[in-house]
Amino acid sequence: MPEKLLKQALEAIQAASTITALKEVEVKYLGRSGQITELLKTLKDLSPEEKRSKGQEIQKLKNGFTEAYTTRERYLQKAEIDAKLQAEFFDITLNQINPQRSLESGTIHPLSRLQREVEQIFAEMGFEIADGKEVESEYYNFEALNIPSHHPARDMQDTFFLDHPTDTKHGHLLLRTHTSPGQIRMMEKHGAPLRIIIPGRVFRYEATDATHDSTFNQVEGLFIDQGIGLAHLKGIMNEFLQRFFGDKEIKVRFRPGYFPFVEPGIEMDMLWKKGNQSKWLEVMGAGMVHPNVLKAGGLDPEKYQGWAFGFGLTRMAMLKYGIDDIRLIHSNDLRFLNQF
Ligand code: DAH
Repeated sequence: MPEKLLKQALEAIQAASTITALKEVEVKYLGRSGQITELLKTLKDLSPEEKRSKGQEIQKLKNGFTEAYTTRERYLQKAEIDAKLQAEFFDITLNQINPQRSLESGTIHPLSRLQREVEQIFAEMGFEIADGKEVESEYYNFEALNIPSHHPARDMQDTFFLDHPTDTKHGHLLLRTHTSPGQIRMMEKHGAPLRIIIPGRVFRYEATDATHDSTFNQVEGLFIDQGIGLAHLKGIMNEFLQRFFGDKEIKVRFRPGYFPFVEPGIEMDMLWKKGNQSKWLEVMGAGMVHPNVLKAGGLDPEKYQGWAFGFGLTRMAMLKYGIDDIRLIHSNDLRFLNQF
């Protein structure tokens, strides 16, 4: 009889597929009125000899049950943990294994890429790349560039002033309206000779439309040494534009222009050919650095001369890629960015 009971019990233990089901089996056999418990209860009515032999038999049965129970319990506990882990499992290699779920990857912004191209071309021509400051003072942005406070040219560039205690020596703080203040900082820091470009963001307090944005990118150039003239500028710019647009037919021409920080000042145009049409496009301001500007930078205008230029990288990007609305460039619109 105990063997038969043990066999049944062991089958029930094996059949239990969860801890809860296993606990029910335990109650059924070892609970207060469980089948093994009931069997133990019968011992008290037996004779001492019978008690001993029956007792041993039932104890063996109980031990067999407990052993099988513990083994099964461990197995089910582990299975439950495994199932939980399985549910939480995240396969980080999945994207590589399954090409249908390829990783999304970003790309370099077209403006950043063009800036690197410009830097590369000028570096190959012996220019160094310098950084200016986006937050500047009235002194560096205007005064030192030969634009005194009463000068009407201050109105040519509407300025974002910072709400910040005035620095009495250098005037109000502002967001630079052009990269030209970098000229002064570089002359102060490195003296002459100098052959640098300063790319960077500039800011204007302006209403925006398809050709104006309140933030755009410029590239400033400065070449200072002895015996430097505008012929060098023409040669360098011709070379730069041909390499940048990958078009040997590009030509440049100078027209007189006015900027307080150069004398003479010029506007540079580029001959742009599209199909069998060609037209002159205004691409940058330039000129011979004004003696007052050289002095502000700590240089002796009797000894050193040089030229400077400034162009809009944003405008170059629009020309190169045929972008017709400047606002797209900082829009972060993926439909636009994915084209590059
Ligand atoms: N700073 C001028 C602007 O933002 C551009 C410019 C003109 C820069 C002539 C120069 C220059 O260095 O010589 O409109």
